[in-house]
Amino acid sequence: MNRSFTRANGTLLLTDHSRSVARAAKIIKEGGLVAFPTETVYGLGASALDADAVKKIFAAKGRPFDNPLIVHLSDLDQLNCVARDIPGAAKLLINKFWPGPLSLVLQRSDAVPGVVSAGLPTVAVRMPRHRIALDLIRLSGVPIAAPSANRSGKPSPTSFRHVIEDMAGRIDAVIKSSFCAIGVESTVLDLTGPSPVILRPGGLSREDLEKVLGCQIHIAGNYENINLPSSPGMKYRHYSPSAPLFLITGPQKRRRYFIDALARSYQRKGFIVGMLNLYSNSSLVQEKDSRVLAAHLYQLLRRLDARGVDFILAEETSAEGLGLAIMNRLRKAATRIIRV
Ligand code: TXA
Ligand code: MG
Repeated sequence: MNRSFTRANGTLLLTDHSRSVARAAKIIKEGGLVAFPTETVYGLGASALDADAVKKIFAAKGRPFDNPLIVHLSDLDQLNCVARDIPGAAKLLINKFWPGPLSLVLQRSDAVPGVVSAGLPTVAVRMPRHRIALDLIRLSGVPIAAPSANRSGKPSPTSFRHVIEDMAGRIDAVIKSSFCAIGVESTVLDLTGPSPVILRPGGLSREDLEKVLGCQIHIAGNYENINLPSSPGMKYRHYSPSAPLFLITGPQKRRRYFIDALARSYQRKGFIVGMLNLYSNSSLVQEKDSRVLAAHLYQLLRRLDARGVDFILAEETSAEGLGLAIMNRLRKAATRIIRV
């Protein structure tokens, strides 16, 4: 049996073998959908220049059409094809951070159909830091529009198994690879206004961006307020496991005491309680730790769901470094935020 071409519910399961990536590229060129690994999360790709192919992404994910997609590039020539009037700040950031987990919102060129950007005059672009993603884009010969490869509202997939769980039978192919190293999505930075604004905190820290741009960077809306959308995509409940998730915030000692007491009281009533045990015992979560937390966050949420827990209790973490992205995702996933 040729292992490169097995199927799950009709979806081709491809290995990261070069012949398989070429097969995936052919599917993209022909207007199909392929899920592929990146350094952040798995993406669900279609040719960014083909409006009909891009519409299939929205259908497969159950994604609202007013939530724009990120266009993935493998070289800088493609940047000039999809964006125009590129500001100096973009060039600085691209030099420093691409390929990597930074998506830049720029003015959209006419080559990109409106459906990619939900009709906005702008386009989000990034160059992923992953060999398979770059090979796929290069072999396809087109920029690839790709949201995360999960069903809309679910935690993003960080392993090909998560993609198969959500997408088997709904897309043409998945390229199987290892876990995504970063584990949360890219940082989305808007460069179309008078000053740069973070629309979605992500895999590149605000501190790193500020060092290169030499100014303070604001975060759109108030990331602590889950009801205030910043980027169009941020208004939907997101990253959510099926079980209700309670996020406990406040001073460390009080929140831990509260979590223990809450867990015990639910257990006495016969409920299965899942603890999102992300945190080290140190009182300060170091940047190094937040990288580990980010890498495991979505996988842990999916695992708790698979165990069939009735409730998930999660604890606040420091909002420094990747902690900002982690807190953003936990707030969006939370059914209730309890301050103690
Ligand atoms: O790491 C990532 O960014 C992953 C991988 C696959 O590259 N992709 C990803 O895509 O997370 P998605 O669709 O799940 O999230 C895209 C985010 C949404 O919050 C969307 O609203 C925002 O980017 N976005 C895209 N285009 C935009 C635009 N033109 N203006 C403002 N926000 C935009
Ligand atoms: Mg997503």
